[in-house]
Amino acid sequence: MEETNTTKVVQNEMMDRPVVEAGVLNFMRTGQADFPGPLKELEDYAHENRVPVIPHETAIFLDFLLDIKKPKRILEIGMAIGFSGSLMVYGHEDRTLDTIDRYDKMIAAAKENFEKLGVADRVTIHEGDAKDVLPTLTDQYDFALLDSAKAKYFDFFPLIMDRLQVGGVLMIDDIFQGGTVFHELETIPKRVRKIHKKLNLLLDEVVKHPNLKTSILPLGDGVLLVEKLDDTDFSYLLEKNF
Ligand SMILES: C[S@@+](CC[C@H](N)C(=O)[O-])C[C@H]1O[C@@H](n2cnc3c(N)ncnc32)[C@H](O)[C@@H]1O
Repeated sequence: MEETNTTKVVQNEMMDRPVVEAGVLNFMRTGQADFPGPLKELEDYAHENRVPVIPHETAIFLDFLLDIKKPKRILEIGMAIGFSGSLMVYGHEDRTLDTIDRYDKMIAAAKENFEKLGVADRVTIHEGDAKDVLPTLTDQYDFALLDSAKAKYFDFFPLIMDRLQVGGVLMIDDIFQGGTVFHELETIPKRVRKIHKKLNLLLDEVVKHPNLKTSILPLGDGVLLVEKLDDTDFSYLLEKNF
């Protein structure tokens, strides 16, 4: 794929602020197995062009988790150029993906990549803001990946839970803000305070919720796994919003 301005997006400051020791991180990023040819090419392209895709250690974990979970219907919020989306369906003919993005340049690149990887017939791209798209979805999913703008994770959470089957798992990427998510609000730069507040709200409401099973992993900038245990309606969280 040729490099374009489209895919060379503004650097995500958290991409370079891992939450584990540098040597450990280096091993997790370079010492683990590579993905098969076309997936590796796409991952390499993303890294070379600073497209903010899930880091290698998170991708390895996601691939492993899905081998165990064996989802059939997957929802993704935050597609970018289609790396994580391709990873979740490539080589798995029994899986389909509904994926959402609002950035036309990313959408164009993702379409090209899904075609190239031969998965386009099992991928439905929903173009638009997830806040508008999520309420229109009618299918039920057994796995979801949330990897979009972090200030909106809390807002999207009830909408995603509504579309997840009981027993379904939601994986949320980038929850630690390079570890600063637990720092006092006053120490956080004003431009990222909303993200800080919303991530804290999400962690407060979700991590010990009695109707959910959760686990936090220090992969990349932090991963939160959420299993939906019953039919609890999480729309009440929307009222806690600000
Ligand atoms: C971190 S990238 C996704 C990377 C992708 N999951 C991967 O690992 O290959 C985040 C993407 O989310 C999209 N995005 C952010 N906020 C969004 C929103 N509210 N609705 C739809 N897409 C959004 C951005 O356009 C961007 O392409």
